[in-house]
Amino acid sequence: MAIGVFDSGVGGLTVHRALVRRFPNADFVYLADQANAPIGGRSGEQIVDLTRACCERLFAEGCDLVVLACNTASAIALRRLQQTWLPGYRRDLGRPVNVLGIIVPTIEAATGLPWEHEPERRGEKVEQLDVLGVFSTPATATSRVYEIEIDKRRQDVAVFSEPCPNLAPMIESGAGHDEMRAEVARHVAALAGRIGRQPDRAILGCTHYEIIADLFREALPPGTPLIHQPDATADAIETYLERHLEYAAGTAGVRRFLTTGEPGLQNGLVATFWGAPLRFEAV
Ligand code: DGL
Repeated sequence: MAIGVFDSGVGGLTVHRALVRRFPNADFVYLADQANAPIGGRSGEQIVDLTRACCERLFAEGCDLVVLACNTASAIALRRLQQTWLPGYRRDLGRPVNVLGIIVPTIEAATGLPWEHEPERRGEKVEQLDVLGVFSTPATATSRVYEIEIDKRRQDVAVFSEPCPNLAPMIESGAGHDEMRAEVARHVAALAGRIGRQPDRAILGCTHYEIIADLFREALPPGTPLIHQPDATADAIETYLERHLEYAAGTAGVRRFLTTGEPGLQNGLVATFWGAPLRFEAV
């Protein structure tokens, strides 16, 4: 059985790479929903429907566990699918399957606290000294998931989100570096303008952005720590698999890359990130 990794496009490869490094012998099926990308500007209903369809496809391809390597799907669709769809689907399928997201591990990494941590006592004056910037799709920013969940756990951390509607499409289409550098700089400046200063730390809260992490490092003040979502996710999946032996990750080192869009080689930006040309098959 394999681990399924889902994203609207090539962004989830950043998480996939960390997972493959962590589990070199496991079998993986990556699915990019490029026919419907980008999803970050879509309605909640559409995001839920598209995410569910891709999970079904990955289960049909033999995966037991699907990792939503997409902040937008994790923020908007995951809880809905876990509550309203997965229990019945699992029963009908007759085998254990599950869907996990990437926001919980990212928040654990950002707060330094386990997800189940008891919220701190409220009602006292707190100095918010640690300012965390989150760059994400519009849907993730509108959900306020990072603001809400971090505030529950760490009232000394102030979270500010910056929606970047053009960045994922630019990365999907392999836009030039100068064009993307200007776009990233514009968003970093816009966020700093809203906060009144630069953030102390940042989350690249759309998996596509990790592909151009260097441009964020360049635009943010030197040394600004970036919380590394791919590694945080790999840590969480490792712990999950240790505790859930019913999900076998395979041992043949299979790597399949599927797309609902145009099959073939992904753009040069992806090849540079990946370290080799990367070909996707049609589903
Ligand atoms: N990579 C996705 C994320 O992490 C979304 C990109 C998109 O389709 O808008 O949110």
